[in-house]
Amino acid sequence: RKRCIKITTGAKTFDAILGGGVESGSITEAYGEFRTGKTQLSHTLAVTCQLGFDQGGGQGKCIYLDTEGNFRPERIEKIADRFGLDADATLDNIIVARAYASDQQCELLKPLAALIAEHGPFRMLIIDSIIALFRVDYSGRGELSERQQKLGQHLSALTRLAEDMNIAVFLVNQCTADPGAMSLFAPVVKPVGGNVLAHASCTRIHLKKGRENCRVAKVVDSPSMPEAEAQFAITDGGIAD
Ligand code: GTP
Repeated sequence: RKRCIKITTGAKTFDAILGGGVESGSITEAYGEFRTGKTQLSHTLAVTCQLGFDQGGGQGKCIYLDTEGNFRPERIEKIADRFGLDADATLDNIIVARAYASDQQCELLKPLAALIAEHGPFRMLIIDSIIALFRVDYSGRGELSERQQKLGQHLSALTRLAEDMNIAVFLVNQCTADPGAMSLFAPVVKPVGGNVLAHASCTRIHLKKGRENCRVAKVVDSPSMPEAEAQFAITDGGIAD
């Protein structure tokens, strides 16, 4: 088994609840409601994975598979500045792939795996978001089992890629109100994707809004870490304490 590398989120307390950061070799999933920081965390990781090992990085490049048009090069430049990296070089090390349909998203993994093998080292593969296109393409009645089957195949391929290439696969996920749970204070939400995604994700992070500009990350499912929460902020330089 390859040595697991932990990639900093940009925030020390957030890293601590993850046992050091986002792990290479497996899938980490972040879910949460609108504007909770999923895309900002993705942009931050696209930069921090390039840092040296001694700085909490992975000394590798990043693939950003964008399914919603969320990627912003100008955000990357600001985050690179914060970490003392050259903005152009940092952007060059992020390969952005855009998918417009779920089958295209699945098919992209083959050329991306070839890219990883031939033009590495890569340390991070981000999919923002993992399931949005599947929800659109399989929205009809009776299409759920087919959707879950396709999603399952896609996630198996991602797990294999993570393990074979010692890459951190980071998935952004949506969530939905959980009708089975009640709270007086806020809607109780759960990630979409069902058991298929729950089983594929090695580590699950729930992102929530806190007071003012504060955000809260909660590790809800981890093989090695207890459930714990950390506060973080979204800054011009990305995720921070
Ligand atoms: P959706 O994409 O809306 O589903 O949510 P998301 O969870 O991906 O949200 P995202 O990561 O885009 O976070 C949005 C929040 O990030 C905004 O409410 C802003 O507070 C913050 N944000 C975005 N860009 C910047 C920026 O350049 N500077 C600062 N300081 N904050 C930013």
